[in-house]
Amino acid sequence: MCGIVGYIGNKSVNSVLIVGLIRLEYRGYDSAGIAVIDNGELEVRKEKGKIKNLENLLKIQPVEGNIGIGHTRWATHGEPSKLNAHPHIDCNQKIAICHNGIIENHLHIRTELIKKGHLFRTETDTEAIVHLLEQEMKRKNTKLLKDVIPSVIEQIEGKYAIVILSEYEPDKIYFMKDGSPLLYGKNTEESYLASDIVAIVPQAKEYYVFKDKEWGWITKKEIYVFNRNNEPVTIELEKVKLQAIHLDKGNYEHYMLKEIYEQPDIFRKIIEARTGEKGKVRFDEMKLSNDILGRITRILITSAGTSWHAGLVGKLYLEQFARVATEVDLSSEFRYRNPIAEGDTLVIAISQSGETADTLAGIHEAKARFCKVLSFVNRTESTIARESDAYIDLMAGPEIGVASTKAYTSELIHLLYFALYLSGIKWLTPREEREEIFNEIRKLPAKMEYILNKADQIKEWAKRFKDSKDFIFLGRQYNHPTALEGALKLKEISYIHASGYAGGEFKHGPIALIDETVPVVCIAPKTSVYEKMVSNIQEVKARKGKILAIVTEGDDQIPEIADYVFEIPYVPDYLTPILTVIPLQLLAYYTALERNCEPDQPRNLAKSVTVE
Ligand code: M6R
Repeated sequence: MCGIVGYIGNKSVNSVLIVGLIRLEYRGYDSAGIAVIDNGELEVRKEKGKIKNLENLLKIQPVEGNIGIGHTRWATHGEPSKLNAHPHIDCNQKIAICHNGIIENHLHIRTELIKKGHLFRTETDTEAIVHLLEQEMKRKNTKLLKDVIPSVIEQIEGKYAIVILSEYEPDKIYFMKDGSPLLYGKNTEESYLASDIVAIVPQAKEYYVFKDKEWGWITKKEIYVFNRNNEPVTIELEKVKLQAIHLDKGNYEHYMLKEIYEQPDIFRKIIEARTGEKGKVRFDEMKLSNDILGRITRILITSAGTSWHAGLVGKLYLEQFARVATEVDLSSEFRYRNPIAEGDTLVIAISQSGETADTLAGIHEAKARFCKVLSFVNRTESTIARESDAYIDLMAGPEIGVASTKAYTSELIHLLYFALYLSGIKWLTPREEREEIFNEIRKLPAKMEYILNKADQIKEWAKRFKDSKDFIFLGRQYNHPTALEGALKLKEISYIHASGYAGGEFKHGPIALIDETVPVVCIAPKTSVYEKMVSNIQEVKARKGKILAIVTEGDDQIPEIADYVFEIPYVPDYLTPILTVIPLQLLAYYTALERNCEPDQPRNLAKSVTVE
């Protein structure tokens, strides 16, 4: 959460920083600011709210220069306000810093520095660092940040990616990183720093992802990096593959809608990449040997939010096809629960962003117990990918909308492929059966398109139920996670309270909520639990709940009972969650529009949760 960017080059720094910040807005959007060196002087501009407010401020109070840093904030310490927006400055207004992360001992540092006469202006944890830099410069009688950064790193506790601009050194941007993402981007005669590569394409042609405890500085043409022992580090640059076209909204009004509609094409790409010969799954990037995987006796999945829902479906795949006992944990629980995980346990971390703090902590926990960690990530340059023993690329392309959509279905299909891969190693599913499953998977993109072509039906549902106070989602087995996911999507972007339940649990309490005002979305495709879902629907009907059913084409029972029906094409049980979630993504999106909510940037949220 929070996005930071830095630039030195020949361009006007304002526009570079603003473009970068807009690309990083998914990381937080409650306030934003920049600091630049304008004619040798440090100038700061900041504003509450989205980047466009900062842009408007810059029209009234312009700044000029070729070197600067910027920040878009998701508040942790101190309310979202202009005052608490980054960059933060020292007493003498010569140094500015932007920070992503949390400084845990900031109160102690603040108290000590106030005693020494420092003037604090904000409620943020970040401000402690800039005053600490200033104090260390005074103590060491230096104006050079390189003389004081090592001792500041020694004194701060917590997570950070920090960029620093100083009027005393107007041709350098300093950085330090521990626990929060930061990377360097290079082009001829220009250098960038950013939380995410999306901020610096297409300009940056090569990049380097900093490791924890690295610090240093960039100039227009050079970079200097030091490790935790303050020894120089030689970095290896990688080519930037991401193209700007992948970051555009195209003709869509919102990223979320674009991302929902991208799903069929993403699946075509995934199917082509993953389908090997003779019923084999191809995972070219996954560096765990068959020998290691063949010895796995237990799997623990750790993930958060939508990725946790994918994990719940993944458990069913892994147990069904690979016959490996699998547990699924919320990352925020896993990291504190003293799990039983030993050498033959494989820990799977699922994360679209690859930066979720709790999931990363789960990986550290697993590695401390000598477990192998395989991550499923959509960002292969992410911290989670790099800290795992191996990763699988979800191949969904950049997901910008805060509500995860295409990453979820990509997680599901990759978990299914992985279960089939394991079952191949263990000689469990015969080749013919795997080929039959591949055939069914190949039909998915067309079936997804068929569903998307009927979006108007879902628009009607959204219009009809936009003022409901509560929504309930019911599903069983493969579609219990779909119920959880449908409820999460709706509440996060339309702010309607929604809960998902397993159909079988309904009578154990939640049914008390039903009356004629409550819409109940029943996910009831033709599967082995179909009849059980029909019973649930009858129970809702008997209590006058409004039934919105997702069924398989040709169903002749549920349409007789339900108030509204949306048909999906037939697929085998295990593929149903990949299709049933699509109408629910659309329902959340259109309901948000009906309620004048901004689906891409819902209140209080940020796309990647990089703090605990
Ligand atoms: O990047 P991750 O998959 O690790 O993110 C996990 C959750 O923060 C994320 O899925 C969140 O729940 C989404 N906003 C849901 O749409």
